[in-house]
Amino acid sequence: MHSLYSLLEQALLSRDPEQKCRLVRELAERSAQRPPLEKNAAPPLDFREAGRPDKPNLVPPSAVTPRKMNTPEGYAAMLHAICHIEFNAINLALDAAYRFRLMPDEFVYDWIQVACEEEYHFRLMSGRLKAFGYAYGDFDAHNHLWDMAYKTAFDPLLRMALVPRVLEARGLDVTPGIRAKVAQRGDTETCGVLDIIYRDEVGHVKIGNYWYQHLCRQRGLEPMALFRNLLSRYDMFVFRGYVNLDAREKAGFSRFELELLHDFEQSMKTDNPPEGKQAV
Ligand SMILES: [Fe+2]
Repeated sequence: MHSLYSLLEQALLSRDPEQKCRLVRELAERSAQRPPLEKNAAPPLDFREAGRPDKPNLVPPSAVTPRKMNTPEGYAAMLHAICHIEFNAINLALDAAYRFRLMPDEFVYDWIQVACEEEYHFRLMSGRLKAFGYAYGDFDAHNHLWDMAYKTAFDPLLRMALVPRVLEARGLDVTPGIRAKVAQRGDTETCGVLDIIYRDEVGHVKIGNYWYQHLCRQRGLEPMALFRNLLSRYDMFVFRGYVNLDAREKAGFSRFELELLHDFEQSMKTDNPPEGKQAV
């Protein structure tokens, strides 16, 4: 039988979405009882890309098909964009579980559980795409989420700070607006899928927050000061357009922390004109 880490590696590097999903379900089954992890596993591989199919073509964020919801193609492009996020989210969660070997077993199992939920989201969204006559890979996509995983591969604290707490938390801000537009079209089935995604993503950001706080405590670092520092160093913003304060509170951000962040980012925007900032 494969060790859990070698199964994680296999799932992460698998280029076939169906096989990747099957391996994630196997990982979830193997993890159900949360048995102690092997301590002498081979060290994690360092790779630039996680396994993904040849399609979609990856292009810069500015070059993806416009998601104009009022045309059938634009609507499908929007569904495809969500599908691609979910596919990347599987790889991101698997990579967190696989890479950071000094973390407690609970950390690994938390991220396997997240990978399992992302796999479910991916299947659901693929089903919605299919219902409109398209498949995953039919539109171009960008690689921003995975790029951030690569940039943070050397430190779980950095990963937790910038991926779940910034990029994944942004999903909580944008999903209600997308859902409202989908509901306007009368696509109740996709609304149901978005509800599941939204519910689960609150839990994923919460897990990221929990481990971010855990690592800060362990290293004697002040979480707020460090977070502000990382945001400015990596040129990222939490407050970009609408911020869903209620969902973020449910996901473990305190109202106090969010207010401080808002003030901090306002002062950053005043000091540095926004055109100099990298879009995330
Ligand atoms: Fe998801």
